[in-house]
Amino acid sequence: MVRHPARGAQGGPGQAAPLTPDQARLLLSDEGRAAVAVAAALDLPALPAAEAMRPYGEAGRLALDQVGLRRRALLKHPDGDQLWWTAEALEQSTPRPVAVHRAARFAGSSRVLDLGCSVGGDLLPLSAVAPVVGVDLDLARCLLARENTGAPVVCADVTRLTPTGDVFADPARRLSGRRGFDPRSWSPPLEAVLSWDVRALGVKVAPGIDYALLPADVEVEVVSLGGDVKEAVLWRGAVRRGHRRTATLLPSGDQLVAAGAPVPAVRPAGRFLLEPDGAVIRAHLVEEVVQQLDGWLLDASIAYVSADLATPTPFGRWYEVLEVLPFSLKGLRQRLRAYDAGPLVVKKRGTAVEPESLRKQLKLTGSREVTVVLTRQAGRQVALVVQPVPALRP
Ligand SMILES: C[S@@+](CC[C@H](N)C(=O)[O-])C[C@H]1O[C@@H](n2cnc3c(N)ncnc32)[C@H](O)[C@@H]1O
Repeated sequence: MVRHPARGAQGGPGQAAPLTPDQARLLLSDEGRAAVAVAAALDLPALPAAEAMRPYGEAGRLALDQVGLRRRALLKHPDGDQLWWTAEALEQSTPRPVAVHRAARFAGSSRVLDLGCSVGGDLLPLSAVAPVVGVDLDLARCLLARENTGAPVVCADVTRLTPTGDVFADPARRLSGRRGFDPRSWSPPLEAVLSWDVRALGVKVAPGIDYALLPADVEVEVVSLGGDVKEAVLWRGAVRRGHRRTATLLPSGDQLVAAGAPVPAVRPAGRFLLEPDGAVIRAHLVEEVVQQLDGWLLDASIAYVSADLATPTPFGRWYEVLEVLPFSLKGLRQRLRAYDAGPLVVKKRGTAVEPESLRKQLKLTGSREVTVVLTRQAGRQVALVVQPVPALRP
């Protein structure tokens, strides 16, 4: 095992060069595979590892990179150390639990086209539920995707195709190393993807996408994994489930859909405060949670829900409210000292206060970890001293 893998030929941070088709062929050759096996077995820091691989020439350099990528890939893919990667393809790849969840909507399809399949992060789970064909512009990625999935992969520009049947697309959003927020700058552009007249369409998009720009006939599903929002997917045609918005929480698979909840009441905090899961917030489904929990909002524009009972829910994290203070440094410091507060957990919505500078200014030296929520209550800045309620599930 290489302890500090060298970054070389594959364009890791600070190195733009993507893997070329010739380099992909070399990696996949007997010579490349042998070098990868040797590199994987090394247990050396980066420099001695590079030295040990020097006799293998370019295959050795590529193999060292590959082993480093494979190790990083395990964070997203349980079999990531068995797959072939480029640095950018790994960064762009959908984490496996999310890809598996998404692929399930295509189960039973007679054939799914994965248009922009990269090295196969989605193609692989799709191939477990239906026959698939992958297409990508980048020949090196196509070669690796074939190897990773065993599926047919065509090297082509999808904007020149007229796809039919069932289609999945995951446009590239990190052009020139920067996240592209404008769907017109994606490759392929979102507009082109949405113009495909197909039986079923799933498109992975940035979770912050402006819903107002989307056609009325798509469902938007926002997916979080372990509480972190990972992506949104647009569903149209046979794979749409009939709702306009859905929040999905993985790994549990709990789902919330827009069901026409009324505009929530706005009142000061009650005994409990719920911080909704990011997928619920991004899917604009906070009002559904308010209704389910018989709660209300502290401020009409902020996603904190309060209630008198902490009804078990998968859709957020409950805190018990110990006290609510008007926000002032002096007042907060005084009260937190009374709690013997030391390490401070800061939650915030609707305030510009920076947790790190707040901690510095408060200079707390006590022994207890205390949680404060900085937010607005009916337009006024407040600090709530809270304590987490142990996770409750229905
Ligand atoms: C975000 S990545 C897909 C990642 C993949 N879903 C995964 O999880 O591994 C987007 C891919 O689209 C490909 N691509 C971009 N524009 C394309 C086009 N016009 N035609 C075909 N492929 C394209 C890129 O080469 C890249 O591999």
